[in-house]
Amino acid sequence: MKKVLVAGATGYLGKHLLKELKKQGYYTIALVRNPGKLDGIEVDKILVGEVTKPETLNGIYPDVDYTISTVGITRQKDSLTYMDVDYQANMNLLEAALKSTVKKFVYVSVLNGRSLKDLKMVEAKEGFVEALQSSGLNYTIIRSNGFFSDMKEVLEMAKKGKVYLFGDGEFKGNPIHGADLAEFMIDHLETDDTELDVGGPDMMTQNEIAEVAFRAAGKSPKISHVPIWIKNLTLMLIRFFSGQKTYGPMEFFMTVMTRDMVAPQFGKYHLNEYYQDKI
Ligand SMILES: NC(=O)c1ccc[n+]([C@@H]2O[C@H](COP(=O)([O-])OP(=O)(O)OC[C@H]3O[C@@H](n4cnc5c(N)ncnc54)[C@H](OP(=O)(O)O)[C@@H]3O)[C@@H](O)[C@H]2O)c1
Repeated sequence: MKKVLVAGATGYLGKHLLKELKKQGYYTIALVRNPGKLDGIEVDKILVGEVTKPETLNGIYPDVDYTISTVGITRQKDSLTYMDVDYQANMNLLEAALKSTVKKFVYVSVLNGRSLKDLKMVEAKEGFVEALQSSGLNYTIIRSNGFFSDMKEVLEMAKKGKVYLFGDGEFKGNPIHGADLAEFMIDHLETDDTELDVGGPDMMTQNEIAEVAFRAAGKSPKISHVPIWIKNLTLMLIRFFSGQKTYGPMEFFMTVMTRDMVAPQFGKYHLNEYYQDKI
C-alpha cells in the first residue's frame, strides 16, 4: 500500500484529502501541530511536528511515497507572515523530502498564480512553486480556483440582506468544493502532470453566486455594485493603516473579485447545496 503524507491535514482541504486518500486505498500519514483538529478523521498515522521549525521534521518521511502540502495562511491568527509559512514552511518540508524516499511533492497554489505574483500571498506561494520546480524532485502544482469554504463571505452578506460586488458583477468563476478538489488531486497523484488548473462544475457570474446565496438565505436579492476604483482606494488605505494580517487576505480577495477566475471544470458538488447546508 503506497504511503502519502499530508501536511496541512487539519485544514479544510487537508481533511478532504485524508478522506479521499483512504477511499482510494492509500496509507495516510497526517502531519499536524494539533491532533485534536483532525476531528476524528480516520488516518493510519499521526505525526506531530511544526512545519515552521525544520528541526521537528527530521525523520518524518521514512518509507513515504508521496507528500502533499496544503500548508498556508488563510484564517490563522499567528503572527507569522506568508513568507514564513507559505514559502519557508513548505521549503522546510521540501528539504526534508529531498533527503528521503519521497517520489513526488504535490503543492496547492492558486489559479492564475503566475499573473497574481505581485500580491503578497501569491508572491510567497509562487516563490515556493519555483523552488519546487528546480528542486529535482517530481512534483505536481495544483492551481485551484476558490474553495467553497471561502465563498461563505457572500452567504454571510446575503444573510444580512445585501451583497456588495465590484464592477457590474459579471466577472465569472467556478469555485470548487474541497471533496471535489481532493478527488481530482488524488486521481492525478501518480500521473506525470506537473501543473494542473482546476475549478468546480458550475461557471457562474458573481451576480449569479449572490443570487444563489440569497435563495439559500431566504432573502430577496439586493446587490450593490461598487465601482472598481473604490477597491484600489480601499486597498491603499488598508495597506497604510493595517498590517499584513489584515491587508494580505483583503488584497487577494478583492483582486480575484475584480477579474474572471475561470478554470477547467471538475466535480459534482454545487454551491447552492453547500450554501443550503451552511444555513
Ligand atoms: N481557500 C481558497 O479559496 C484557496 C484557493 C486556492 C488555493 N488555496 C490554498 O490551499 C491551501 C489550503 O487551503 P485551506 O482552505 O485548506 O486552508 P486552511 O483550512 O486554513 O488550512 C491550512 C493548513 O495549514 C496549516 N498551517 C497554517 N499556518 C501554519 C503554521 N504557522 N504552522 C503549521 N501549520 C500551519 C494549518 O494548520 P492548523 O490547523 O494547525 O492551523 C492547516 O492545517 C492554502 O495554502 C491556500 O492558500 C486556497
